[in-house]
Amino acid sequence: MPYGLRASAVKFTQSETQREMTMLGLGTVLQRPSTSSNISTQTFSPRAPRRLACRVQPCAALVTDTPRPKIIGNSNGNGTVGQNGPTIIDGQTLHSISSHQLDLLRSMDKYMESTVLPILKDVNLCWQPTDFLPDSSSPDFADQVVELRKRTDNLPDDYLVVLVGDMITEEALPTYMAMLNTLDGVRDETGAAPTPWGRWTRQWTAEENRHGDLMNKYCYLSGRVNMKAIEKTIQNLIGSGMDPKTQNNPYYGFIYTSFQERATKISHGNTAAHAAEYGDKQLGRICAAIAGDEARHEKAYIKITDEIFRLDPSGAVIAFSDMMRKQIVMPAHLMSDNEHSTNNGRNLFKDFSAVAQATGTYTGKDYVDIMEFLMKHWKIAELQGLSPQAQKAQEDVQSLLTKFKRLTDRQERIMKSKPVVQTQFSWIFNREVPVIMV
Ligand SMILES: [Fe+2]
Ligand SMILES: [Fe+2]
Repeated sequence: MPYGLRASAVKFTQSETQREMTMLGLGTVLQRPSTSSNISTQTFSPRAPRRLACRVQPCAALVTDTPRPKIIGNSNGNGTVGQNGPTIIDGQTLHSISSHQLDLLRSMDKYMESTVLPILKDVNLCWQPTDFLPDSSSPDFADQVVELRKRTDNLPDDYLVVLVGDMITEEALPTYMAMLNTLDGVRDETGAAPTPWGRWTRQWTAEENRHGDLMNKYCYLSGRVNMKAIEKTIQNLIGSGMDPKTQNNPYYGFIYTSFQERATKISHGNTAAHAAEYGDKQLGRICAAIAGDEARHEKAYIKITDEIFRLDPSGAVIAFSDMMRKQIVMPAHLMSDNEHSTNNGRNLFKDFSAVAQATGTYTGKDYVDIMEFLMKHWKIAELQGLSPQAQKAQEDVQSLLTKFKRLTDRQERIMKSKPVVQTQFSWIFNREVPVIMV
């Protein structure tokens, strides 16, 4: 893996900025940054929805090139990788974790048992989708659905686009479980492995499964959205998968999930606040409950990474710096409904992300804030005793944050002059929503 990052080598031109103004984050949600390891799962500051006048654009893809790995080795792909260096397949670095790092991860079993697994909730204590939905066994089920539809009548189309995009992202859960099981040393080797890592992956997935289930059923009952188009998008997205660029490396994987859970917490938290403002308090409760789960999951993934930083600060900061340089790939970036590009001549995910940005649900500034939060939490600037390569990574990622902040500010200014184009979304029966052109 190319660890020798040089933020100073990253050059931004005006044309690059404009071309790359795509959303850095999707999925989406919020929480107050904490500077300690005591991460709150409750604190969340939703923001008021932005409507059509808002022209702020997400931060752009900030880095344009990916250096090729120079080491080519072998992997037997059965969990004993890392012996001979990373493998490179189709230009991607795979199995980049070292044997020493694999041993460190194996030493974390007790930590997982005592500190991470307890963050999961007992099934009997978890909310279930039925807690928030009309009771289909009740004689007044139809009346309950009528009430639900009255509540959702006032949800504006841009809100629905963001809600549906978030729901589709949640529904691609098989992809995310598969992603965790690409990670060397921590994957569930049998599908029912009793290891703490295997149990974590399965039970995290089981908790997450409630999110898409609940959002899907609520959207279906509302009658406000085109479920067939949504279902096609879900099928396409799962079929396409995702590439989080985590190299089968748990160091990278858990930095990725720490970032993503925080992002989804922010997004769902804001859709909760916006739903309440539009008069659907029940939908607000639904999105808030999901955001609460994301907050717990963020806490767990950050705790896993806390321990990696404690055991191997050099390896951890190299992984963190490299992930930030490559940028966090959004989980639904390969979504397609088979018609958006034909109808509008643009990419569905980018347009969905632009609406999320314009409504203040998840923005480029959120992306940079998450990066800064994680850097403070892991005390990147204060790490001592690092290897020369890690010291370089430590310096580079701090420079990168400064550049990202500057670019985000510049993009916000540029976007104020960008045109807004009415854009059809199949998810809402091809009604049009304004999208800022980049
Ligand atoms: Fe989720
Ligand atoms: Fe999540």
